[in-house]
Amino acid sequence: MSTQLLKVKELIDFRIQARLGGGEKAIAKQHEKGKYTARERIDMLLDQGSFEEFDMFVKHRCTNFGQDKKHFLGDGVVTGYGTIDGRLVYVFAQDFTVFGGSLSETMALKICKVMDQAMKMGAPVIGINDSGGARIQEGINALAGYAEIFQRNILASGVIPQISGIFGPCAGGAVYSPALTDFTIMTKGTSYMFLTGPKVVKTVTGEDVTQEQLGGASVHASKSGVTHFAVDTEEDGLKLIRKLMGFIPQNNLEEAPLVECDDPIDRLEDGLNDIIPDSPNKPYDMFEVIGAIVDNGEFLEVHGDYAKNIIIGFARFNGQSVGIVANQPKMLAGVLDSNASRKGARFVRFCDAFNIPLVTLVDVPGFLPGTGQEYNGVILHGAKLLYAYGEATVPKVTVTLRKSYGGAHIVMSCKQLRGDINYAWPTAEIAVMGASGAVEVLYAKEVAAAEDPAKVVAEKEAEYIEAFQNPYKAAQYGYIDDVIEPRNTRFRVIRALQQLATKKLTNPAKKHGNIPL
Ligand code: HXC
Repeated sequence: MSTQLLKVKELIDFRIQARLGGGEKAIAKQHEKGKYTARERIDMLLDQGSFEEFDMFVKHRCTNFGQDKKHFLGDGVVTGYGTIDGRLVYVFAQDFTVFGGSLSETMALKICKVMDQAMKMGAPVIGINDSGGARIQEGINALAGYAEIFQRNILASGVIPQISGIFGPCAGGAVYSPALTDFTIMTKGTSYMFLTGPKVVKTVTGEDVTQEQLGGASVHASKSGVTHFAVDTEEDGLKLIRKLMGFIPQNNLEEAPLVECDDPIDRLEDGLNDIIPDSPNKPYDMFEVIGAIVDNGEFLEVHGDYAKNIIIGFARFNGQSVGIVANQPKMLAGVLDSNASRKGARFVRFCDAFNIPLVTLVDVPGFLPGTGQEYNGVILHGAKLLYAYGEATVPKVTVTLRKSYGGAHIVMSCKQLRGDINYAWPTAEIAVMGASGAVEVLYAKEVAAAEDPAKVVAEKEAEYIEAFQNPYKAAQYGYIDDVIEPRNTRFRVIRALQQLATKKLTNPAKKHGNIPL
């Protein structure tokens, strides 16, 4: 065999060795836990055969605790680039088979390399987390590595989309990298995120909790809102990332991919003309409205298990990706509270950062009153949503279906927050407050002095409803651009978005605003 052939063989052997990560035993252990390896995950995520790997020959440089005798080619992370539906993405997947995927100095360098490359190319970064945290043997170098990653997460925020899959442990300060990214997906039963594990919790607070109770996927999807999606399997998670990518652009200077639309743009939905119940206190399902108006009824809900009184997610109108924000009358009457405001605000800001138009569907009775909300800072949280809408310069189309009261009316993309096109259904009620509240405040004395108080209340309420509980007062002032037939909503929204395609609006130059965090 020639020297060259020998060297080629050596290269192939190195590659085989690197692809085994921590070795066959560790891979078997990973599979026993119901988890895939880093390379298997990347293969499932990317278009077949598109993955190009970097840094397969990287080894850690630590000599503490006998580490100089333990080396694995590539160290604990697989990095590189590939495509999703033909579009370039950068990826890193932590390899739990190598030192439990724990982060070493060299691992951090590998991750930072793909992040830097992604920034130069203007392409998204997708990270799969499955790690025991900082590599303990490396001490401060591991912490410095995390900080380097976080810094890049911060600078990339709003420039390129960043998506995190959590498919195993993600604990300690390591959680802050996914938290800084745009979307987080956790697998149920096999992943968890927390700052301090159950043992430390027990020592410090005396609380007995399992990993699942403390930071499992369901907890973060429904209670904390830390994760946007909780999925049953890794396959589901990876498919979801591919789907999500279809709605978002490569970077903040581009637009989301336009998809061929086979759903007629002028499709009438007669059912919408009769969807609002006669009783103002009776709910209907906002998902039915969304499903009826978007292309082929396809809606990718984000944060679906959290603050269900507001719905957020992606859909398309005539093939164009939009972010939908909608009150859900079926949950807490669609009221805005702290969690719903935070959920909505973050989504609005994502869409605005990445040139995705916003379609807002309004049916909101107001903000949730009470000490629970006030002590929790609903003023600041509500202000986040207000700020996000007011700051957004992407096309904004608002349709008011029914209630739109008080501060919540303003917050939900009203005209004065630079709403571009504001439509209302004939059932819209746009006012400072509902009739009973208004009569109580305005006519307290008359009612108290009346022979038949109930009659006075009924008369005054009817007067108020006649005067205010309709869309025409707002339309009279131009705050509503048109009152539309509900069944035409799809067509009218598409027309509005077409009209807004060349929208140019910029905010005053500044270092950055001071969103009420
Ligand atoms: C070095 C680690 C490691 C770590 C795991 N391993 N975590 N090596 N540093 N942080 C190694 C194990 O020694 C083991 O090596 C292999 O990875 C697999 O781990 P197991 O314990 O066998 O796996 P499992 O039973 O599934 O348990 C997984 C685990 C557990 C729950 C993650 O390993 C664990 O608790 N690890 C420590 C977690 C931790 O406290 N990390 C530091 C957090 S602080 P062998 O050779 O036996 O196969 C932190 C600060 C970050 O991260 C700050 C950023 C700002």
